[in-house]
Amino acid sequence: MKALVTGAAGFIGSHLCEALVAAGHEVVGVDCFTPYYDPSAKRANLADLVGRPGFELREADLRTADVDALLEGVDTVFHQAGQPGVRLSWDRDFAVYVEHNVLATQRLLEGMRRVPVRRLVYASSSSVYGNAERYPTLETDLPRPYSPYGVTKLAAEHLCFAYAANWGHSVVALRYFTVYGPRQRPDMGIRRFVDAALDGTPVTVHGDGEQVRDFTYVDDVVAANLAAAAVEEPPAGAVNVAGGGSVSVNELLATIEELTGRRIDRRHDAAQPGDVRRTGGSIEAARRTLGWAPSVGVREGLARQIAWSRATRAVRG
Ligand code: NAD
Ligand code: UGA
Repeated sequence: MKALVTGAAGFIGSHLCEALVAAGHEVVGVDCFTPYYDPSAKRANLADLVGRPGFELREADLRTADVDALLEGVDTVFHQAGQPGVRLSWDRDFAVYVEHNVLATQRLLEGMRRVPVRRLVYASSSSVYGNAERYPTLETDLPRPYSPYGVTKLAAEHLCFAYAANWGHSVVALRYFTVYGPRQRPDMGIRRFVDAALDGTPVTVHGDGEQVRDFTYVDDVVAANLAAAAVEEPPAGAVNVAGGGSVSVNELLATIEELTGRRIDRRHDAAQPGDVRRTGGSIEAARRTLGWAPSVGVREGLARQIAWSRATRAVRG
């Protein structure tokens, strides 16, 4: 298959590209290296891919790119590009979220009217739920985003289904729950906590640290994408891609201390606007419709991310 991976230089996109190339697929990766975090880190994410047979990087911005040309000859689009981060989506930055998350997705969907593709897999988010009605949260529970970021991820998800209903696009929307693992974005919790443990620097815990997340290992997210591309019939609605556990930030810090053998110096600031108290997704729909279930538990996943952080430090010297 020929795959188009948007956001290919990002944390999740780069892992997905590697898995697709390893499986023998032809992959076109698109990225415009937004400054949300250091673009040189995104170049580093692609280090093992650029120059490899089966992989081609196109530096293009989906807000303005010729999407028809990108879609030509493509079977499956894995749409990972976006402006991430829950807590930074307030105020004037909201416009950036709308452009990268909503408008860019709409341009891809319009392109698919002119240049049909077999399937689009959209990287949605647990942030569409906000403080959910119940846990584990079902896909049919009312989405009520608690952050502007979540509003844009839900808007793009609705766009995907509106185009599917009107134009016959075949779409799978995967709602990822806080993804972690090697190359995790530098603004994310686990990345900061591991760095702090290894470097002996303090962490800032937002609020009391009792907020809970259903952390999902990146290889499991990649596997869910591959399953979403492979199924004959797309599921009727969005599907949760969750790790299947409930871990508080305080528990996470304690486990990282245990696994690294280092103490982490904690400073607390206020709970952050947009940050939900808890996430936890039912994985029954993913099991039933995609034949997917998570396979890496948090302790094992953390050990792998810590090993990666140690290895990158050893290379930097
Ligand atoms: P990331 O920032 O590492 O990757 C996103 C990539 O998209 C970046 O490399 C960026 O340069 C690129 N990009 C953004 N706008 C673009 C545009 N207009 N044109 C071309 N490229 C563009 O983020 P990530 O953590 O890998 O997240 C990937 C996707 O998964 C995002 O859509 C995010 O909303 C979603 N998601 C992530 C998580 C998580 O925990 N990491 C959870 C739920 C959903
Ligand atoms: C993550 C991603 O960043 C979003 O892009 C994604 O859409 C979302 O998951 C999702 O599941 O949909 P978040 O859960 O906030 O968002 O992930 P982290 O940034 O790793 O934060 C996890 C927890 O650690 C949060 O409660 C946060 O407040 C806390 N944290 C994070 C701190 O206490 N201190 C920090 O320095 C960073």
